[in-house]
Amino acid sequence: MMASVTAAARAAAAVLLLVVAAPSADAHLAMGAYNKTCPQAEDVVLKEMTSMVAKSPDVAGAVLRLFSVDCFVGGCEGSILLDSTPGNTAEKDAPLNQGVRGYEVVDAIKAKLDAACPAVVSCADTLALAARDSVRLTKGPFIPLPTGRRDGNRSVAADVALNSPPPGANITDIIALFATKFNLTAKDVAVLSGAHTIGKARCSTVSPRLYNFGGQNGASDPTLDANYTATLRGQCKPGDNATLVYLDPPTPTTFDTDYYALVAGNKGLLSTDAALLLDATTSAYVARQANATATAAAASEFFADFATSFVAMSKLGVLTHHNGEIRQVCSKVNPPSPSSSTSTAAAQLTATGGLAVALLALAVALVL
Ligand code: HEM
Repeated sequence: MMASVTAAARAAAAVLLLVVAAPSADAHLAMGAYNKTCPQAEDVVLKEMTSMVAKSPDVAGAVLRLFSVDCFVGGCEGSILLDSTPGNTAEKDAPLNQGVRGYEVVDAIKAKLDAACPAVVSCADTLALAARDSVRLTKGPFIPLPTGRRDGNRSVAADVALNSPPPGANITDIIALFATKFNLTAKDVAVLSGAHTIGKARCSTVSPRLYNFGGQNGASDPTLDANYTATLRGQCKPGDNATLVYLDPPTPTTFDTDYYALVAGNKGLLSTDAALLLDATTSAYVARQANATATAAAASEFFADFATSFVAMSKLGVLTHHNGEIRQVCSKVNPPSPSSSTSTAAAQLTATGGLAVALLALAVALVL
């Protein structure tokens, strides 16, 4: 009798130890994470994005960039969406993020999601899915995207410069930043830069290449095609910081390989686009896609590469399971309350942990 009690207790202890030690099965992102809790979530995002991009094609580029900026600073946890508070300047108000736009798009989609399934879909996933749809709606690839991201509550302006390539960054620094901070490769740099096939930049970003290259008054960047420099000088007058110009003027709202042909032809708008020509890996990728422009094979290679790199980026620093919260309003962390998702999760965790410890103690006592 005693032997069987001891064996049973040993087995119970072993099971308990396994339960306590094993990583949770849903501690990661998963395909269709909302299939049970909000089956229509991905359809709602696509429907809203379709209607907003139809009304204003600029929305696609804005949202795609917004997502990358979110992921690169502290992970894809919606921190770019948070407003500054009296005691804290948030990421969105950092100097490097002044041109970032599309916040209202995420708010509008999140409102529709909350109407369909209150407090289920995070702001981080709303943004991730909207960015995925930006690519698809501009005739780029459909990217199957794992979901289950939760929202973080840290958004500090000072984090931005530490984790973002500055406008004039050289290619060595960009590749090193991607490798050390994001575990992304030089190929990822070349592939993800292909996002500049849609969207716009501010004249303030471009003007140093047109009027003040290398800090020299009146000098333009000699690596920028001379005719394109003249065109851009017509669009961006000295001192005009507000006007937006297309990154890929021939096909500004189509996600295609044209961007690489532009870069190869010294017509990359940003100095960081032009810089892709200065590293062996990134320049080889540019040449490869540029030479094959307009062929179905090239598009499908770039599309497949982009999907892979985009998903890798979309997994950076995500919060899942008991971490983070489902924000009610994307620009604000949830008010502290006993019923907030974070405290509920913490309470559940504590309760589960407490129960496990008690059962474990009982099992050990039985064994002894
Ligand atoms: C290699 C690192 C990158 C650098 C240095 C960079 C830099 C920039 C800059 C300076 C702008 C123009 C901002 C302005 O003038 O307001 C811009 C725009 C844009 N970027 Fe990037 N970017 C990078 C990576 C990415 C990635 C990974 C994505 C997305 C996957 C992306 C998507 C975009 C888009 C779509 C726009 C246009 C935004 C709009 O229309 O509002 N970029 N980027």
